[in-house]
Amino acid sequence: MIPPVRRPRRLRTNPAIRRLVAETRVHPAQLLLPVFVADGLDEPRPISSMPGVVQHTLDSVRAEASRAVEAGIGGLVVFGVPEPDDKDAAGSAGYADDGILNRALAAVRAEVGDDLVIVADTCLDEFTDHGHCGVLADDGSVANDPTVELYVRQAVTQAEAGAHFVSPSGMMDGQVAAIRSGLDLAGHTDTGILAYSAKYASAFFGPFREAVGSSLVGDRRAYQQDPANRREGRLEASLDELEGADILMVKPAGPYLDVLADVAAWSRIPVAAYQVSGEYAMIAAAAERGWIDRQAALLESTTAIVRAGADIVLTYAALELAGWLR
Ligand code: PBG
Repeated sequence: MIPPVRRPRRLRTNPAIRRLVAETRVHPAQLLLPVFVADGLDEPRPISSMPGVVQHTLDSVRAEASRAVEAGIGGLVVFGVPEPDDKDAAGSAGYADDGILNRALAAVRAEVGDDLVIVADTCLDEFTDHGHCGVLADDGSVANDPTVELYVRQAVTQAEAGAHFVSPSGMMDGQVAAIRSGLDLAGHTDTGILAYSAKYASAFFGPFREAVGSSLVGDRRAYQQDPANRREGRLEASLDELEGADILMVKPAGPYLDVLADVAAWSRIPVAAYQVSGEYAMIAAAAERGWIDRQAALLESTTAIVRAGADIVLTYAALELAGWLR
């Protein structure tokens, strides 16, 4: 045969060459670890659908935060899980100064100061007795504008508790602009907004419902995006950029790499992607059965998310990955 002129295999010959020509490198500093902090717990409680992930106590989340500093990851995204009796129709435990989320933010901030970026989840679904991300109108739909007012209130309490960033995840229209001006008027001009911009109504959020003890019956299709829509992801992300977001986010990550690549292609601000609970659970479960290599699958999926354009990745495996990537 005529020998091929180009032999792409040459650059795959050995690990040193492959390392030299790798187009994508994942670094621990770009990883954010989501953590769940539950009220009224004496010790951490495992989340059965997310092997290796727990609901933390205020003490154990502080220890996790110091491990995160050690590991050199970028930061934590803090979610609060109230006691069931503290839920109500307006999700008021979500913006009470002494609510579990604000206490957790203060505890983590006291532990790590500015050594990590502390991101607060800004949403009401963990705190409402109906499980939706906002307050309901008379017809049972989630009322956009009254919900946004509560997000503003929640964001201000989170800044006061010590969050460096708030992260509105409820997909209400106008939420980023309202939170930006609310924070500014309260004097929190340096508190950033990590906006869940293109967030899809996804089946891959399943295990998260267990993680936060969600009360939701039904779905969020009237506010989160339709998985069928790619162009709309660009609209949502561009609105958030114009409204004052500091970082955009696409969520889930793996099944939405096209949306992520679109947003990353034109965004002038950093872009994050969230490898959500179901993406993590699928890998963890298959690995437990010996059907997949946990380490290889976590490294590959994270690399693919960065390759598609993410500057920042939220992943439940952040600490494990940091250990492997060192
Ligand atoms: C809502 C919220 C959800 C997740 C993060 N924030 C759930 C939802 O929108 O139904 C999902 C994260 C995951 O699945 O890992 N505040």
